[in-house]
Amino acid sequence: MNDLATTSPAIRVRHLWHRFGRFDVLRDVSFEVAHGEIFGFIGPNGAGKTTTIRIMATLLEPMAGRVEVDGFDVTIDPDIVRQRIGYMPDHAGVYERVTVREYLEFFADAYRVPTAGTSYAVVDAVMELTDLTKLREKLVATMSKGMKQRLQLARTLLHDPKVLILDEPASDLDPRARIEIRDLLVELRAMGKTVFLSSHILTELADVCTSVAILERGRLVVSGPIEDIARRLEASTQPQPQAVEEPQTETGPKTVRLPQPQVPLRTLKLRVLAPGESVAAILAGVPAVKRVGPGPASTVLVGYVGDEQTVATVVRVLVMGGIPVVGVEPERNELERIFLEVTRGEVQ
Ligand SMILES: Nc1ncnc2c1ncn2[C@@H]1O[C@H](COP(=O)(O)OP(=O)(O)OP(=O)(O)O)[C@@H](O)[C@H]1O
Ligand SMILES: [Mg+2]
Repeated sequence: MNDLATTSPAIRVRHLWHRFGRFDVLRDVSFEVAHGEIFGFIGPNGAGKTTTIRIMATLLEPMAGRVEVDGFDVTIDPDIVRQRIGYMPDHAGVYERVTVREYLEFFADAYRVPTAGTSYAVVDAVMELTDLTKLREKLVATMSKGMKQRLQLARTLLHDPKVLILDEPASDLDPRARIEIRDLLVELRAMGKTVFLSSHILTELADVCTSVAILERGRLVVSGPIEDIARRLEASTQPQPQAVEEPQTETGPKTVRLPQPQVPLRTLKLRVLAPGESVAAILAGVPAVKRVGPGPASTVLVGYVGDEQTVATVVRVLVMGGIPVVGVEPERNELERIFLEVTRGEVQ
């Protein structure tokens, strides 16, 4: 194996620019994806996700900047990059008048995957992995959209690529199929693959991604491991106490006044076996709690300033006050919170 490949990240994007006509679609985008990550590429419609992905997949040449996959430049070594990636485009068609097995065998041949005569062990293994074995003799034309999407994913795995690049892999899937795809991505990661996938549906990525990059109007807003971004956000929104000296009085020492910090209000969703009013009455004694109100589906929303210690205090005070607490969760998951905060331009 090339030395570069062992030391380079799975994907490296450096100062990438792309333009359609007079419109800069990508503006100085840089980020890295480490080996073994499930990396979510998030952004609203038109942000430039597909354009970035097409450049990674060697289908579009970057106008400026560098993109490398496993240490190989997509412009200089496109053939090597193509061997290393499994690329699943958004909304690509599939051949319809063949069975699932024939479809996969056709692509196994196209990728020149070694076979023992007419036996396609790889196809069997991929069908097993993607839960298509039972559908092996089904005509592609008669499959649902979700099944076709699974077939597409199966196709990308045939040549055992190191890096999967999936553009909105779950866009046509029902909730059960989404969960199945998520489980499959986790399994692929456990097999040592790197998974890069785009989505504008945050909840789809929150449980499965180890790192994310958020793109907004062609610019990268933030990237990195989800916990690191959350910690950076935390630090950037923590109060920075800057003492202000009051004018000296004749009678005593200088008084020092700390400005009121601008800390964000977080919201907790509680499930309790008691009326919301009694929760509000008990939490009135907790200074960190700023707001108590009704939430969806008989939950109670508690607005607070603080961290997980504050959450523990809230639960303790309620339980000691005789309120049976049966559920505690943040109103938004970590990724949704990050997305909302960074796309308001609060951190860079
Ligand atoms: N071939 C093209 N010619 C001209 N403009 C294009 C072309 N492809 C994309 N664009 C424009 O580039 C911008 C980014 O498009 P892109 O498809 O990369 O966004 P996206 O983030 O993938 O969006 P979506 O979530 O809708 O898939 C859009 O404004 C789009 O109209
Ligand atoms: Mg797209």
